[in-house]
Amino acid sequence: MNPTVTDATAHTPDSTPSSVDGNGKATRNVILRIRRQDGPDKPARWEEFAIPHRANMNVISCLQYIAANPVTTDGRATTVPVWDSGCLEEVCGACTMLINGKVRQSCSALVDHLEQPITLEPMTKFPLVRDLFVDRQRLFDDLKRVKAWVPIDGTYDLGPGPPISQDLQEQRYPLSRCISCGCCLEACPQYTPTNEFVGAAVISQVRLFNDHPIGKALRDERLEAMMEPGGVADCGKAGNCVEVCPKEIPLLESIAAVQRQATVYSIRRFFAK
Ligand code: SF4
Ligand code: SF4
Ligand code: FES
Repeated sequence: MNPTVTDATAHTPDSTPSSVDGNGKATRNVILRIRRQDGPDKPARWEEFAIPHRANMNVISCLQYIAANPVTTDGRATTVPVWDSGCLEEVCGACTMLINGKVRQSCSALVDHLEQPITLEPMTKFPLVRDLFVDRQRLFDDLKRVKAWVPIDGTYDLGPGPPISQDLQEQRYPLSRCISCGCCLEACPQYTPTNEFVGAAVISQVRLFNDHPIGKALRDERLEAMMEPGGVADCGKAGNCVEVCPKEIPLLESIAAVQRQATVYSIRRFFAK
C-alpha cells in the first residue's frame, strides 16, 4: 500500500532564511522539509524544520539539530525523525536518502550547496522502516546470492596469496570502492521493490570477485546466479546507475563484462553436457 502524503507544514514565505545581524553573526536558518512516516503502513506527512545556519554544515548535522530540538516551523512539538548513519564520511552508505529528489549520502551533502527548502525523503526501492530509514537487507542478501567474497579456508595459514598484476589491481580497485549504498538501485528502472533483479552494484561485485585469482574459484557459481531470473540479462542498459554512483564505479563496463562471462559460460556449459 502506498500511503497518501499530507502536507501539514507547507513552506511559507515566513520560513525564508534570514540574513546576517549587525555583528556579522549568521542568523539565517536552514529550512528542511522531511517526509515523515511512522511505519510502513502508516500515513505519510511532511514536516518542516528551521535550523540555525553554521558554516560547512551538512544534512546529517541538520538532522542532529532537529533530534535535539524536535519542533516544527509552526511551533509544534513532534517526534524525532528517524534516519540511519554510521561512518559520517561516505563510506558505509547507511545515510543514503533522496535529497531534493536526488539519491545521495546525507553525510556528504553540504547544506550551502543545496537549494532551499531542502527536502528529505527515504529511498523508495527498499522497504521503509520509519521516516528516512529503509531496510537495505535485500542488497546484502543478493551479495550472498552471488557469493561476493573470496573463499578462504581459515583452518591453517594460507600465506600471502598469489600476486595480482598492477593492471589487474587498477582494473579491480574502482570496483572495490562500492559502499553498498543503493543509489544505483534507487535510480534503476529495472529494479523494483517486488522483482528479483539484483541491480548494478551486485553485478559489479560479481566482476570484482570473478577477476580475483582466488575469488575465481566460485566464478561458475556466480555466473549461474547471474543467468537466473533477476540476473544480468534483466539489465536494460539505461545507464541511470552510473549517473548516481557516488564512487564513480564503471557499472556499465561491469555489466558488459559479466554479460560476456555469462555468455561464454553458458556456451561452455552447453558443450560440456
Ligand atoms: S544500466 Fe540501467 S537497467 Fe542496468 S543496472 Fe544500470 S540503471 Fe539498471
Ligand atoms: S555501485 Fe555505486 S551506487 Fe551502487 S551501491 Fe555501490 S557505491 Fe552505491
Ligand atoms: S554515514 Fe556512512 S556514508 Fe554517510
